[in-house]
Amino acid sequence: MDFCKGLPYWAAMLGGVDHRISVLFVCLGNICRSPMAEGAFRAAAHRSGLDCVVDSAGTASYHLGDAPDPRAIAIARAHGIEIGGQYARQIDAKDFFRFNHIIAMDSANLEGIKARAPRDGTARISMLFDAVPGRGGHSVPDPYHGTADDFASTWATIDEGVAGLLMQLRAEAASLTR
Ligand code: 4NP
Repeated sequence: MDFCKGLPYWAAMLGGVDHRISVLFVCLGNICRSPMAEGAFRAAAHRSGLDCVVDSAGTASYHLGDAPDPRAIAIARAHGIEIGGQYARQIDAKDFFRFNHIIAMDSANLEGIKARAPRDGTARISMLFDAVPGRGGHSVPDPYHGTADDFASTWATIDEGVAGLLMQLRAEAASLTR
């Protein structure tokens, strides 16, 4: 019997280990793009029946403890998703062991994440659009200095990336249970 790939059977027998796929979205401030991605991905995963752990963080510490930008909360609500209860935090070393996937919103975030990665970190680090065929390496533009319209177009961009990532992770989850 295969209790849990990659873990000794007694660890699975004892319980207390979370085997769900886990995803951490990361941007700079953790108040605009990554909280939107967290909300959009959690909702899409729930709709598709994928049981997973989702969180977000920033590479910078400017907004620790802050709720998402009001424009991010508003555009998420316009799509029926509540992100007002999320709070900004900074990525830390434990994240590289806790999460299967760390997903950067743009190429500068990717570099910031890699610079913080412990040598033996187990998380796979990539950009959101790496999961979208033909769009690998594409950055999600930062809407922070923009308008509400910029937040609407950022939401649409994130939604597209999230759809690609969900397809990838559903396939990964299916291969783990085979
Ligand atoms: P985010 O946007 O990285 O998508 O959360 C930003 C939020 C705040 C700042 C920059 C980007 N800032 O400089 O305070």
